Amino acid sequence: MEKRIVVNVKLNCNDVQPNIIFISPEDDILSKSNRIQVITKHGSYDFNSKVKSFVPPGTIAVSYQHQKMYNLKLYHSCRVRVLACVESPKGLSDILKTKFKFQSKVGGFDHIFERIFGDVLLTCIYLASFVTKTSLTKRKDTILHGPPGTGKTLIARTICELLNIEPTIVNGPEIFNHMFGESEHKIRNLFEDARRDQKLYGSDSTLHIIVFDEIDAICKRRTDHSDGIRSHVEDNVTLQLLTEIDRIFHLDNIFFIGTTNNINSIDPALLQSGRIDTTVEVGLPDSEGRLQIFDIYTKPLLHNGILEADVGIDYIIHNSEGFTGAQIEHVVRLAIHNAMRRDIVDKGRIDITSEEADQLQVCNQDFILALSKVLKAYFSDKNSNGDQ
Ligand SMILES: Nc1ncnc2c1ncn2[C@@H]1O[C@H](COP(=O)(O)OP(=O)(O)OP(=O)(O)O)[C@@H](O)[C@H]1O
Ligand SMILES: [Mg+2]
Repeated sequence: MEKRIVVNVKLNCNDVQPNIIFISPEDDILSKSNRIQVITKHGSYDFNSKVKSFVPPGTIAVSYQHQKMYNLKLYHSCRVRVLACVESPKGLSDILKTKFKFQSKVGGFDHIFERIFGDVLLTCIYLASFVTKTSLTKRKDTILHGPPGTGKTLIARTICELLNIEPTIVNGPEIFNHMFGESEHKIRNLFEDARRDQKLYGSDSTLHIIVFDEIDAICKRRTDHSDGIRSHVEDNVTLQLLTEIDRIFHLDNIFFIGTTNNINSIDPALLQSGRIDTTVEVGLPDSEGRLQIFDIYTKPLLHNGILEADVGIDYIIHNSEGFTGAQIEHVVRLAIHNAMRRDIVDKGRIDITSEEADQLQVCNQDFILALSKVLKAYFSDKNSNGDQ
């Protein structure tokens, strides 16, 4: 156990959970603690602490209730003492998180991050000279499946970004815009670079990532359709893809990611016979996941001081059950629009000066209004596309 005193920590009222003080994950000293003491001229108060990314570095966030109860002055510096440090040994996930900042882009899917980086991609991440001595290959195939807007494409792109690899992206529906015969040719060419690299560099070849977005369009269950020229093209493309996957089986420099809304519409042959070895469900985020996503999109507001301290996060999280990541992002976007609209209406003119804009904050009411718009758009009016 370690004890330290930190001075000049600022207060920030943000959450209503009792007996918990929230701490920025970027605040090195405080974030290691699980219990801290706030010292004021009126007394010392102990709190459990929890790391949350909505808290700006160098500050701690307390509830309004505690602010009042302990006479804690908002935005006044106060002294904080770390009471206990959790020095538990780091797990694989902690170590991976320090290297790959997946959670700063994708919220709510820590388990997917662990599965992909701690399992599927382990042979690509671990020392190559060791992996070469084993019988394991680097080649991996994964299908991400789940409802629209849950972040499948985002996850695929983030994986590529974190590995610093420019992926080859194929959009399933787009491939059919090509004339008959051309789409098959396109699929054949997709694997060419990886094939050439493997030939030239062997096990030293860099990893090639191929993202098949909406793979169900390319690899449709063959019994699902039986009419016309389009079906013929689809069957050929499906067959071509299956053949190509078989042909690249010996390559160990490919990471193949497919995404789909409906895993059942994919031709079973793709999922069988060892062609695709991992399927990962990307479902709706739970309340902790929704909070993480909300944090991601409000972070710039917080860092630029334009998120008013009265925003009732708990209310938003509680009332957004069933939302996808895309819908939570939409709430934040609409709230910002609401703030700008409110400012124009209040001032009665469009030409807002930079001094005036500096005063504008996105407040609780902007979020409540945004939440009700998104609820109405996606959940009450099924005919609406939610584009408000
Ligand atoms: N878990 C999440 N974390 C952060 N942002 C998210 C998340 N899920 C969705 N989003 C936001 O919503 C946008 C749309 O998500 P994305 O396109 O990845 O969904 P999808 O699952 O691929 O949907 P579809 O099945 O329609 O292709 C993302 O670009 C991102 O801005
Ligand atoms: Mg997608």
